[in-house]
Amino acid sequence: MLAIGIVASVVGTAISLWIDWFPSQASTQADDVDRLYDWLLIASVPVFVLVMTVAIYCVVKFRAQPGDERDGEPIHGDPKLEFIWVVIPFLIVAALSVYGWVALNDQEEKKPNTMVVHVISQQFAWGFEYPQPSGPPVRSDELLLPVDRPIEFKVESKDVLHSFFVPDFRVKQDAVPGLTVTTNTTPSKVGSFPILCAELCGLGHSTMRQTVRVMPSSEFTAWLDGEKLALREGEKTGLAAGREVFSTAGCAGCHTLADAKAEAATGPPLDGLAEVAAARDPKQTLKEYVRESIEDPNALVVKGYGPLMPPNYRSQLSARQIEDLVDYLASVSAPSGSQRAGASSTTRSTSSVR
Ligand code: CUA
Repeated sequence: MLAIGIVASVVGTAISLWIDWFPSQASTQADDVDRLYDWLLIASVPVFVLVMTVAIYCVVKFRAQPGDERDGEPIHGDPKLEFIWVVIPFLIVAALSVYGWVALNDQEEKKPNTMVVHVISQQFAWGFEYPQPSGPPVRSDELLLPVDRPIEFKVESKDVLHSFFVPDFRVKQDAVPGLTVTTNTTPSKVGSFPILCAELCGLGHSTMRQTVRVMPSSEFTAWLDGEKLALREGEKTGLAAGREVFSTAGCAGCHTLADAKAEAATGPPLDGLAEVAAARDPKQTLKEYVRESIEDPNALVVKGYGPLMPPNYRSQLSARQIEDLVDYLASVSAPSGSQRAGASSTTRSTSSVR
């Protein structure tokens, strides 16, 4: 039995180490996390295999014969055996927890030149804010990061529990309503990587996906400077203010809208709304239709779509923001091409500054 257990342990551990569990390593801590995981496998797979070997052996060898109803001999304590099976697991678990603590401590260490990025989660989209030394923060619905620069994420939630998960960074942090939780990483690879929500947060949980783009430092600085310039020049007024609300409130997480370069398909598309509104109720104006859809989304769920739209935008957004959003949507989603072209040429979209 011992020989079988040892052979099975070696084979099981070899297989578990051979399997490629994780995506690419795109941050400086990825290697440490993967090594920690390998040690967890080395410590746990032999225990699992050994216990299963003994259990299966006993089931086969000591099973009761048909008609045998006896309970078997009572078992008395064996202090030596009990001491061994308490102390060995204790030592294994204590060693692993110390190792895990050291790895986590390394990762959370304050590094010079750290950039703070706010991660704002809500059903069912992510928003990102880059605080500036002076003036308002730069906002974006896509996470852009410079390569090789330490980042401190400040993770927040506007509604329920979410979890900010970037598998390629080996970063996963719960977003807790009412708390700001920090987590660190240093991206080490240029490219685009998925951001997922790793906490069941409602019907649209599986659609709560976005992308992080890691770019050369010069490219990132150029993007940030462009965003700051746009903020300073006060370009984000009128329709641009509505577009800003569209991007930061998470609308792009579920809807397609050509003007905002949004391409999600969870909710109904927002281009050509005038026709949809007229078809529903000719007496209602387009703006009334849009406002009702935002403030009371479940009153008019579009055919073919589930009631996924969060019903709390009325309390999440200010009256001013809803006003801007309604103006913006009514303006850019009308089928008239001239109106849309006019709106796009006078303002600048967040996502066009690249
Ligand atoms: Cu947010 Cu799941």
